[in-house]
Amino acid sequence: MDIALLGHGTVGRGVDEICAKLDGVDVTRILELPDRLTDERMTSNFQDILDDPDITLVLECMGGLEPAHTFIADALAAGKSVVTSNKAVVAHYLQEFVELAHTTGSQLICEAAVGGGVPWLSSIRQVRRIDEISSVSGIMNGTTNFILDAMHKGDADFAETLAEAQRLGYAERDPSADIDGIDVANKVVISTLAAFDALTTVDQIPVTGIRHFSKTDEETFKAHGRTVKLIGRAVREGDRFACAVEPVAMPDFTVEASIPSNFNILSLDAETVGPLKFYGQGAGSLPTGNAMVQDVLDYREGKRPAFRIDPDLIWDATLLTGDYVIRTTANLPVDGKVYGANARLIEGINAEEAYALLTTARETDSEAMIFARPRKALFK
Ligand code: HSE
Repeated sequence: MDIALLGHGTVGRGVDEICAKLDGVDVTRILELPDRLTDERMTSNFQDILDDPDITLVLECMGGLEPAHTFIADALAAGKSVVTSNKAVVAHYLQEFVELAHTTGSQLICEAAVGGGVPWLSSIRQVRRIDEISSVSGIMNGTTNFILDAMHKGDADFAETLAEAQRLGYAERDPSADIDGIDVANKVVISTLAAFDALTTVDQIPVTGIRHFSKTDEETFKAHGRTVKLIGRAVREGDRFACAVEPVAMPDFTVEASIPSNFNILSLDAETVGPLKFYGQGAGSLPTGNAMVQDVLDYREGKRPAFRIDPDLIWDATLLTGDYVIRTTANLPVDGKVYGANARLIEGINAEEAYALLTTARETDSEAMIFARPRKALFK
């Protein structure tokens, strides 16, 4: 089978390296910038790939929104299927891509977009052959887990730890998408469609990152036997669903609390199979390349799992109701129990209400933070 790569950076090279070891999968064309055409397979003209009738599958390995969005849309419109690891472009244009693929009978396949090398979306599909899924959640970002884990185990503050993550190549030079929770929100949008057929957008989801997580916060939660993790989650009950991305103070005895370094863990809960957890590398050239090539092999074997949008599913924020700790010096119109330095525990609010409280607090205290604090009794 002939395939084309769009981009030959970190991910594209990983895919190329893995394909070279496989029989019957040939990377025959690679789209690259005009000043980087170092290989006879390379072209800087996307039309060469669209016009090649032997190429039925295009692997987008460029990242970013444009021109990735245009290339993916053009390929799907031309009836070519697309494999991508680009969570931002998929989350942003999910409805357009899904509808295009349905119209032309092509496929949008993006295992590597959530959890990198972890077989997450394919596991969701497998579980759904029998069960309805009631929740998906997890640590979906390696950069922030590296920072939170290092702060939990060492003495450094957030800025020092972020600088160390950048030095080691875990964090980007501009780490905003990771530390502000946007990368996780993109992955939640994709997981929500895969698990429930529910279409949402990053703008609809309450998203709180860890940019203002302090050493004092760390010490507050440590004293309560908890470890803070950045968690993306989505739940469904009947025809209602809700999602959130927020720092969560996990009890120390949970699996999530012990996830080290830049690893990911993704969990789901379903009717007959019960709770399942998937753990592994959520980023990196070869794990991401591996997941993309798994998609290529699934495609070659005729497995064509299409995303589906159920228009009858309704957003209901009350599904994510629980307890929150807010740490701020701002005066807020809510009472709460003292939990730690400038920190109060507020019980029985939902993720949207918690996010609204944080937004109010940040009007006078720009570094305020909010943390979901699940009850220990929830974890058996
Ligand atoms: N920046 C992402 C992370 C890359 O740190 O997990 C994988 O999506």
